[in-house]
Amino acid sequence: MSIFDSTHFDVAGETPQCATDGVWLSCIACGEQFAPFETVRYVCDECDGLLEARYDILPTWEDFEGTGVWRYASVLPFESGVSLPEGNTPLHEVPRLEADVGVERLRIKHEGMNPTGSFKDRGMTVGVRTAQEMGVDRLACASTGNTSAALAAYGGRAGLETLVLLPQGKVAAGKVAQASCHGARILEVDGNFDVCLDIVGELAERGEVYLLNSLNPFRLEGQKTIGLEILEQFRDEEGTFPDRIVLPVGNAGNTAALYKCFRELVASGALEEADVPKLTGVQAEGAAPMVEAVENGNEEVRRWESVETRATAIRIGNPVNAPKALPGIRGTGGTAIAVSDEEIQAAQRDLAGEGVGVEPASAASIAGLRALREQGEVTSDERVVCLTTGHLLKDPDAAAEAGVEPEAVPGTTAGVREHLGMSGE
Ligand code: F0G
Repeated sequence: MSIFDSTHFDVAGETPQCATDGVWLSCIACGEQFAPFETVRYVCDECDGLLEARYDILPTWEDFEGTGVWRYASVLPFESGVSLPEGNTPLHEVPRLEADVGVERLRIKHEGMNPTGSFKDRGMTVGVRTAQEMGVDRLACASTGNTSAALAAYGGRAGLETLVLLPQGKVAAGKVAQASCHGARILEVDGNFDVCLDIVGELAERGEVYLLNSLNPFRLEGQKTIGLEILEQFRDEEGTFPDRIVLPVGNAGNTAALYKCFRELVASGALEEADVPKLTGVQAEGAAPMVEAVENGNEEVRRWESVETRATAIRIGNPVNAPKALPGIRGTGGTAIAVSDEEIQAAQRDLAGEGVGVEPASAASIAGLRALREQGEVTSDERVVCLTTGHLLKDPDAAAEAGVEPEAVPGTTAGVREHLGMSGE
């Protein structure tokens, strides 16, 4: 199987007339090409297929300089953007967890260390820069929380109005607080994330807002830098590329972005196709439409109308980037797996025990790796990177539930000593 299995996934090709400074948009379903910044569009005019940004020059390792997302400007649509700054996140070692899971090497790419505490900042630095190029003034998104926090911060930084639609009662406290304090107008919708996205998608279609969900192809360009960073860091520290990248899946934006990263590197000759890491997606059992499609070998992902999980960031039933992500999972020889909320909580605790604080959705990556290792799908000789997408403090309630109970004690040394069972005077 090739990572370019479908014709319209091939990123190399003639620069079309419609390109601006060597950048254009291409439909992954029918191959139609469009000018990148003249008209706002999120899907193909001809067939409603998803769009991808394309470049006349493909990336090589020598092109990259500086740090963070904009180190990769040569494979982004702009030289610079609205930056806080983002990227350059740690690739933690977790020796106890590595031994316990039983793989050759395990590293944790902690995207919770971005400015607003999630990987969304990588997408927003590029997405908000694109909004400036388009000359729009009202930015909007549907969100399970992290996108709204990042949009509010980056939109605010750019001096633009921001509107966010959140599923009522299903967004972690830290995220709502961020969106609120960074000045977004927050609408709490009576419906789940997918309903929020339906609504904001319609507002965007009417030209009433500029959409900064991952349906926006420019946002995913920023998120592509997660892959570039993982490959560079891993190679520099381990002398090789990772065999597998395991990540939580909601709307499947990151899965799509990583797949594009690999295709561009292979097309330029910077990465051998044999060295492409296996993309491995993890969903919560109560919200696992991608896993269903992968397990059943389906071409399309069926929308789940009813979804539930404590990992609210990935409480999503209609992964809009599935047409980009499914071929990525299949073409790289990866897989997808669903895990229970209990397994997610245990993984969150395991990571926290090694000092790495992540929110529940992020811990799904470790829970998924553990399950795949137990099934023998992942083998003991593999070098694996798990992507942890958001910071522990995003969801303080979940952190407290996963952690130990505080104990009430008297305000005296004697009382504390007695409580701790210390003997003697
Ligand atoms: N992990 C976290 C912490 C997230 O916030 C999200 C998505 C995902 C994983 C899934 O990523 O959509 O690229 O597959 N959060 C979005 C939001 C939906 O609104 O914040 P994906």
